[in-house]
Amino acid sequence: MTATLEVTALSKRFAIGRPAVDGVSFAVPRGEIVVLLGPSGCGKTTTLRCVAGLEHPTGGEISISGKLVSSPARGVLVPPRARDLGMVFQSYAVWPHMTVRQNVSYPLKHRKIARNEASHRVDEVLELVGLTEYADRPVVALSGGQMQRVALARSLVYRPQLLLLDEPLSNLDAKLRLRLRDDLRVILKQTGMTALYVTHDQAEAVVLGDRIGVMRDGRLLQIGTPHAIYNRPVDLFVANFTGATNELAGTLVECNGAFGVVDFGDGRRGEAALLQPLGPGDKVRVALRPENIAIGRQDGSNAFTAKVIDRRYQGTQTVYDIELFGNRLEALELGTAARHPVGVEAPVSLSREACWAYRDTGPSSYE
Ligand SMILES: Nc1ncnc2c1ncn2[C@@H]1O[C@H](COP(=O)(O)OP(=O)(O)OP(=O)(O)O)[C@@H](O)[C@H]1O
Ligand SMILES: [Mg+2]
Repeated sequence: MTATLEVTALSKRFAIGRPAVDGVSFAVPRGEIVVLLGPSGCGKTTTLRCVAGLEHPTGGEISISGKLVSSPARGVLVPPRARDLGMVFQSYAVWPHMTVRQNVSYPLKHRKIARNEASHRVDEVLELVGLTEYADRPVVALSGGQMQRVALARSLVYRPQLLLLDEPLSNLDAKLRLRLRDDLRVILKQTGMTALYVTHDQAEAVVLGDRIGVMRDGRLLQIGTPHAIYNRPVDLFVANFTGATNELAGTLVECNGAFGVVDFGDGRRGEAALLQPLGPGDKVRVALRPENIAIGRQDGSNAFTAKVIDRRYQGTQTVYDIELFGNRLEALELGTAARHPVGVEAPVSLSREACWAYRDTGPSSYE
């Protein structure tokens, strides 16, 4: 079956600067939510706007439900309104002079939908986003989160084949953001909507995405399930960006299939998973999540001794700064007790599955 959205070798070059989107390919199968995740300026919005038809791509092809909508090489460029898309943006794009119901029913006016059917659909979608009791309120009398629900309802009511969302939660306060994030996933899954969602927030990406594509500098580095992105990042950037913020530099001295032995200097050796093609003698950086450093335990192939140099008690967890082989690492321990005092030498274990070795291409490229 053809995917709802297929993007092939998409590129977009503006008049100035390097390409904003540079050879990006991915597909969004019907009923899936794909999240594009990456830091500011990596090309997420530009990719989304190319799909919407609001930006004219420089190269590559975009198909929606098997129909080619953009191909500069073939002279194809279908205008936005003929692409049958829904869009929700960061700003609350609602009509301030209308009520909630008027806002939500507006898109149906242009779509020749019978009055009864339209009214039924509006009720249904208001219920879905939890705004039934606000139906007759002017939208200006709503909170930010409620306005975003109106914007979402307005995009869902005409049942577009694809929904595009660009950081729709970023103007909301932290608490509301978490709630709407969880609700959004439920709503999208209930409607069976196919969606492309962009964000720079990794937690949002994991909660919402069936698959996550990580972007950097206009390129798509990896696309996969949240589990794959979190457990087998393809490079140091993806590892760092999704929370494996610790790095240990070393030299690979031995390869045994999926794992290798890394020398961290002065003969101190440990094992790491090899997530890139690497060979003995290669300079590597080993990435590691704070939550995968176990302080107070000494087991497995990577059992070392580290010094606790700082700790920050956060109520339900404690973050420790430890020194290991001259590197300052962050370790996170769950629980309401801070167990390790500052200044002590403590045993630490790093499971080899959680240590990922990547080619060392110099520190500057990952800043
Ligand atoms: N109209 C434009 N003219 C020139 N350059 C642009 C234009 N729009 C975007 N860019 C550049 O393209 C790159 C990608 O921008 P884009 O808005 O797609 O990033 P983003 O990933 O959505 O970032 P953010 O998380 O900040 O929204 C940036 O370097 C940006 O400066
Ligand atoms: Mg953006």
